[in-house]
Amino acid sequence: MTFEFKLHHRDASTSARRGVFLTPHGDVQTPGFMPVGTQGTVKGVTIDQVAQTGAHMILGNTYHLALRPGAETVRRLGGLHAMTRWDGPILTDSGGFQVFSLKGINKISEEGVVFRSHIDGALIDLTPEHSVEIQEALGSDVAMVLDHVIALPALRSEVVEAMERSIRWAKRCQDAATRADQAQFAIVQGGLDEELRVQCASELAAMNFPGYAVGGLSVGEAPEEMYRITAATCPALPENKPRYLMGVGRPIDLIESVARGIDLFDCVMPTRNGRNGLAFTDTGHIKIRNAVHRYDTQPLEPDCPCPACRHSRGYLRHLFVAGEMLGPILLSIHNLTFYQRVMRETRAAIERDEFASFLLAKKKAWGFADS
Ligand code: GUN
Ligand code: ZN
Repeated sequence: MTFEFKLHHRDASTSARRGVFLTPHGDVQTPGFMPVGTQGTVKGVTIDQVAQTGAHMILGNTYHLALRPGAETVRRLGGLHAMTRWDGPILTDSGGFQVFSLKGINKISEEGVVFRSHIDGALIDLTPEHSVEIQEALGSDVAMVLDHVIALPALRSEVVEAMERSIRWAKRCQDAATRADQAQFAIVQGGLDEELRVQCASELAAMNFPGYAVGGLSVGEAPEEMYRITAATCPALPENKPRYLMGVGRPIDLIESVARGIDLFDCVMPTRNGRNGLAFTDTGHIKIRNAVHRYDTQPLEPDCPCPACRHSRGYLRHLFVAGEMLGPILLSIHNLTFYQRVMRETRAAIERDEFASFLLAKKKAWGFADS
């Protein structure tokens, strides 16, 4: 079997799961976090450094790569793995969300979506079949189905329409797939309505995808709303398939969602925040540009093995203030290392049946004790 999800252990008192997802390019330990490499690069970080942070799988974007350098160029460079030299598993998003979030003038119909390239303004047609074709040319291990993402809040009728269309598009993606070495994950939509989420999850579950994502969240709703929807959706998904919460999130969101049954995450937060001078630590986050760090000889975190933590906070602050590119690079690596450590500790806590107390301890340490 090329793709398989093995559930090793379920936590005694939460819905957290400990598993492994087997792919043609290696195993992904779950719960796991995927660094985002939108344009075929995790911004500012070499693939060896990405591997050093402990990441098993990374993400690329169909939308960006199809526009530049183009699917045919990637194919002629040997596919995403050969092009980037990342030899671990790669997941590609389908383009649906990027069309939505980049708000290029676009028109959505039953056939697909027409959007304007943010690079040269050209009109591009993205249908479910075309998204599959591009992702097959990219050669990712996991391809996401094309979905219809809408802004929230929205009228219930609009949520229903986008959800039903997403289900029809998932079927079209499934029918269009030709590669045995690529797995397709379906995406549950349905806004903030638990009933619609369960309906969508059940209909997609009946189509027997090798994995499932929860989409349309982290689009501005309160974290509690996202947790509520995740908690309602997971039980409607197959037990023996990986569950991926798309585009999430803060470290607290990851562990709160693991407690509700999520196995995989991706988010730009560790790299984007790192570039902007924000470092995550086990005692909360640090704004490295702050004057309080000027003479600070401590590292960001005492026990962190990353290259940023060989330096003092004072030096890192200097790099940012001086506009040196090494600053954003080092904080990106530190944050990715932090996210991977949280996931490693999460997996260990589940194995010990101690995820509930782990979650509570992290909430206290990170300043979310009352929530
Ligand atoms: N990334 C974050 N959320 C989503 C979503 O709902 N759909 C897709 N395709 N990608 C996402
Ligand atoms: Zn570090």
